[in-house]
Amino acid sequence: MSAIDLHARASNDFEAKLAETQALLIRAASEFSPLTQASSLGAEDVVITHLVNSLELDIPVFVLETGMLHKETLDLLERTKASSRAPVNVYQPSHESVVHFVKREGKDPMYRSVELRKACCHIRKVEPLERALAGKRAWITGLRREQSNARAEVPLVDTSDEAQTGRAKFNPLANWTWGDVWHYIKLHQVDYNPLHDQFYPSIGCQPCTRAISLGEDFRAGRWWWEDEAAKECGLHVKNDDTKEEISA
Ligand code: ADX
Ligand code: SF4
Repeated sequence: MSAIDLHARASNDFEAKLAETQALLIRAASEFSPLTQASSLGAEDVVITHLVNSLELDIPVFVLETGMLHKETLDLLERTKASSRAPVNVYQPSHESVVHFVKREGKDPMYRSVELRKACCHIRKVEPLERALAGKRAWITGLRREQSNARAEVPLVDTSDEAQTGRAKFNPLANWTWGDVWHYIKLHQVDYNPLHDQFYPSIGCQPCTRAISLGEDFRAGRWWWEDEAAKECGLHVKNDDTKEEISA
């Protein structure tokens, strides 16, 4: 059974949400240029890229290619580069930092401590993210409220960091359900990561992502060996620690 068979089920107000998302993307592109879409190539992100392309908006996509992604994700990245109307930019970690870190800490240090896991995320995701966002007035993410308790209040437009970073954050699928995401994928035959068909709802790096079993939380397969409170990679952390947007 595919993820489409399992999950595609539109909410009653899907059409209204879709119209709101489209209007938001159009406004973001016209009022916040230059901006960019952050894509992990997960289900939410392929929907956003599809919307951006079909609305013919000039919004480039960026993917943080950590060097630890699954083959399925890398293959989808290649297909997306070939098919996307908007440019797809790939950011990799500093080669020197990775070599140094791996030499010092060994192959899979993330399982040994939260500190080492965060150090790996910093080198492979957070520093490249800074490069990807440099000079941008806004970025677009696939965050949804339903994904975890910590994301329950994600706004459609987040300007809370704008004074500090000069950047707004758009979360155009904030109020979509998982069923809405798959309904859109089904309707438009959007190409997606086949790992979603193998019970991976949330996909990150290969060593830090596993499939989930029936009844487990959406993000249970991410950093599964850590306490809930530690599960955050630094991509969506607020500058003010007390207002952490994402922690699970
Ligand atoms: S994470 O913080 O736990 O890694 P998650 O995988 O749920 O985040 O993805 C949330 C959003 O963060 C995605 O919809 C996407 O906008 C952005 N994102 C996550 N991983 C990447 C990546 N590797 N490259 C670009 N954007 C990413
Ligand atoms: Fe490293 Fe895992 Fe973080 Fe990826 S998710 S950067 S492999 S610790």
